[in-house]
Amino acid sequence: MASTATHTVPHHVAIVMDGNGRWATRRYLPRVAGHKKGVDALRACVRHCGNRGIKVLTVFAFSSENWNRPADEVSGLMDLLGVALAREIPALKAEGVRVHFVGDRSKLSEKVRAGLAAAEASTASNSRLIFNICFNYGGRWDIAQAAARLAAEGKPIDEQSLDACLGLSHVPDPDLLIRTGGERRLSNFLLWQSAYAELYFSDKLWPEFDDAALDAAIADYAQRERRFGKTSEQLVRPVPKVA
Ligand code: FPP
Repeated sequence: MASTATHTVPHHVAIVMDGNGRWATRRYLPRVAGHKKGVDALRACVRHCGNRGIKVLTVFAFSSENWNRPADEVSGLMDLLGVALAREIPALKAEGVRVHFVGDRSKLSEKVRAGLAAAEASTASNSRLIFNICFNYGGRWDIAQAAARLAAEGKPIDEQSLDACLGLSHVPDPDLLIRTGGERRLSNFLLWQSAYAELYFSDKLWPEFDDAALDAAIADYAQRERRFGKTSEQLVRPVPKVA
């Protein structure tokens, strides 16, 4: 869906929360300890987004490729999701946050799937902040599943119909895409939806990405000129139509 943001505060912020493992390793802790700290950073980030007037936050919590990590880290992330949901959902509900999960649920356990569905149902009437958690998600998977669905239904595959079948069809495209942890790549996150996102890379590891760091990203975004293929001149005054 096309972006609606015209203001200095982005309507939709997407985040690749990278650096949990390094945060833990530098402290001689198991990697899962970094992910736990990452949940703390995420809780603060959700709250700060709401306070700053951001309307949609989308985060990459578990990628299609993360199954290739050591088994104890994968099971640690699954357990963490269950624990985090049980602990955080009441507060998110009270703060007006609506939770959506985006990704392939078919490979998740029955227990995890039930947890996702319950979190979505219990926050469904909220609208202050839409919080999309991409879990077992990949941008290529998303595009492929949308195309497969259209093909199975015998519908034409064009930009509009494909867009409507993607996991984030309920929100406008991200305006600002942040990646922490120093890497400068998308790693299969929101490949379709990031076509016009402003990219922001932070060297901070995700557990260290605090309110001030998010404010710095928003301030940087406010300096960008978003042209969506037009020229600078067209943005300040509309070009008269040629008869
Ligand atoms: C990338 O850091 C991070 C992840 C693969 C997981 C992100 C998860 C959280 C922030 C916790 C929230 C998650 C749930 C389940 C609610 P990395 O491990 O690749 O870090 P590294 O690059 O330093 O190794």
